[in-house]
Amino acid sequence: MAKSKLNFKNNIKLSNARHKKTGVFKLRGLPISIKDGKLLLSKDASSLPVQKRTLGEAKRFLKDPASKTKIKNLYLMYRSVKLKKDGLVFKKNNATYDITVINPGFLGEEFVKTIGHAHPNKPQTKTTYPEIYEVIKGKALFLFQEISPQINHSVGHFGKNARIYLIKAGTGEKVIVPPGFGHVSINIGSEPLVLSNIQATNFKSDYSFFKKHRGAAYYITNNRQLITNNKKIKKNIRINQLNPHKSASFLLEKNPNYKNQINFKIVKPKKIFKTPLYQAFIKNPKKFEFLRYPEKHIQFFNPKNLFR
Ligand SMILES: [Fe+2]
Repeated sequence: MAKSKLNFKNNIKLSNARHKKTGVFKLRGLPISIKDGKLLLSKDASSLPVQKRTLGEAKRFLKDPASKTKIKNLYLMYRSVKLKKDGLVFKKNNATYDITVINPGFLGEEFVKTIGHAHPNKPQTKTTYPEIYEVIKGKALFLFQEISPQINHSVGHFGKNARIYLIKAGTGEKVIVPPGFGHVSINIGSEPLVLSNIQATNFKSDYSFFKKHRGAAYYITNNRQLITNNKKIKKNIRINQLNPHKSASFLLEKNPNYKNQINFKIVKPKKIFKTPLYQAFIKNPKKFEFLRYPEKHIQFFNPKNLFR
């Protein structure tokens, strides 16, 4: 047990060292590299054509819709990434493995983020589809915001008892999005943030809630003026003190489009398994049955079981 833990850590160190030296980061266990923020696939692998998210598309989700940036594409989305030999495994299990590369930087005072979305209800059930993320490389902050009805916590709309979790995750960590939570991924590091995810294939993401509210209930910013001038820090602005590491510090600023005071928790993901997500799925797709049949795993999705 101890030996395999050590190997896992060494793998991460080797990959990072290679990245610094060549600018190319090879995904562990896959013949796929990231170079200058773009995915390079070997001839054994494939993906759907890359989708690019521009500032123009993201403006309606930002604290400052007039913010400018030199970043051409905020993030790149590679859907259905797979080794050709594994195509049937994904098809049989109605699952997709995707990779998102989020550039580092700021949009006004906000860290670059995905615009955020929710998943629809699974037909004939009272639960929405969940998802699992993995940080392949970089420093991620996931914002999960309860916006949909759920069996154990039926808010039906974004009420004052709704929950928000901010999950800090680094290289190798996996994070499960429980049913009922909209989600935003934020790059709080200074390098491209590379995420993978697996979810069921038979639904479409819904962007309307976050569009209507101009983002999630909190904006993640680096408003230095507020950080240095304590007098200006009001109740709705908190400094993250859990990790004083300079490149990972951030502020939470309440989005004024939400009328209620909404409480949040800053947490870390519980360790689920140490194998890279892709390999874990290919080796044992049954382990990921909760993605297709969330209604059978309601207790598993209790945030107490997912976060620490
Ligand atoms: Fe999602």
